Amino acid sequence: MLKGKHIILGITGSIAAYKSAVLCRLLVGAGAEVKVVMTPLAKQFITPLTMATLSKNPILVDFFNPENGEWNSHVKLGLWADCYLIAPATANTLAKMATGVADNLLLTTYLSARCPVAVAPAMDLDMYAHRATQRNLARLRENGVNIIAPAAGELASGLVGNGRMAEPQDIVEAVAALLAEKKKPTLEGKHFLVTAGATIEAIDPVRYISNHSSGKMGYAVAEELTSRGARVTLISGRTALDTPKGVERVDVLSAEDMYQACVVRFDEADGAVMCAAVADYTPQSVAQEKIKKGEGDMAIALKRTRDIAAELGQRKGQRILVGFAMETQNEQANAEDKLRRKNFDFIVLNSLRVEGAGFRGDTNVVSLIDAAERKDLPLMSKREVAKHIVDKIEEKL
Ligand code: CTP
Repeated sequence: MLKGKHIILGITGSIAAYKSAVLCRLLVGAGAEVKVVMTPLAKQFITPLTMATLSKNPILVDFFNPENGEWNSHVKLGLWADCYLIAPATANTLAKMATGVADNLLLTTYLSARCPVAVAPAMDLDMYAHRATQRNLARLRENGVNIIAPAAGELASGLVGNGRMAEPQDIVEAVAALLAEKKKPTLEGKHFLVTAGATIEAIDPVRYISNHSSGKMGYAVAEELTSRGARVTLISGRTALDTPKGVERVDVLSAEDMYQACVVRFDEADGAVMCAAVADYTPQSVAQEKIKKGEGDMAIALKRTRDIAAELGQRKGQRILVGFAMETQNEQANAEDKLRRKNFDFIVLNSLRVEGAGFRGDTNVVSLIDAAERKDLPLMSKREVAKHIVDKIEEKL
């Protein structure tokens, strides 16, 4: 699987860098071509000579060679690679990657790389468990970085816990699996709309009606479609997520805004995946000034919003249309009803009763239902669910 693959091995300043030598040997032994990028501090932990000898390539640390001014192009390096593996990855480097800091060659190469990226964190247990580190890891995951989880064991500090870099053999297997799953650009030339996130229905200048949708499922679908070569326009309600690489994002607020953004683009598209949690009702009128409280109770009159999916279903022709349903009761019958009513090719049913499914988390439990069959998928990450959805889109195409 690794034969002939181009791998950049990034090494940062951690005591676990001594394992990078073994890792490099294993990668080269498996037939990969390896180029090593080190941070300046990493050189204190393992010598460039060791890594250059094992990788059979000069190692890269600086933006240019001070002797002759030769430029080490992170752009070229990023494009050369089939996979960028950073092992060990320190808390510092993970934080910089999560925020886009580009103050060394290892980081500029990360920002330039179009290939899959994997990191093998290595640090003390408290650093690893710290909310800041976990937040950075979650953000990197959202950005499509594969995290090769550290193992529990004795750490350099003498403490015992989670934070020890995964063993080189396990890292090689993770990289091989990552490259195996890299899909061919099967959707090249296709254009999809994806709706995602929650809509915001204004009540007055400071208040609104919305819902708990995080947008994660829709963003994962957009990312997966893009990774298979499709052009994706993401019509996004409110989320806290970063735009996936290569995706065109159109921000909207209300259900009406989302409706307008979708209908003008749908004719040009080959399909749409309707992941957004769109408000079914919106205030009849938006107060121009902030509503002041009174003595008694109050009620807000609501009117129905337009159903975007149903409208696209009417216009769909040969296009593919995928919908979502979130049900708490009679799920099969309700989902089938939506499938027919909105003219979906298939519908993704979330059951809120199942643990690990639904709004805010990183995992989901769904069933894919079309006119012919129902396929129940086990608990998996939203990114994995997105793969199944896009596989089914490919079948339908
Ligand atoms: N949808 C849409 N526009 C709306 C409402 C929903 O595009 N105004 C889409 C959603 O993105 C989703 C599907 O339609 O793909 C969900 O249908 P909906 O009827 O809203 O289902 P539920 O939210 O499950 O609500 P209900 O149980 O009230 O029917």
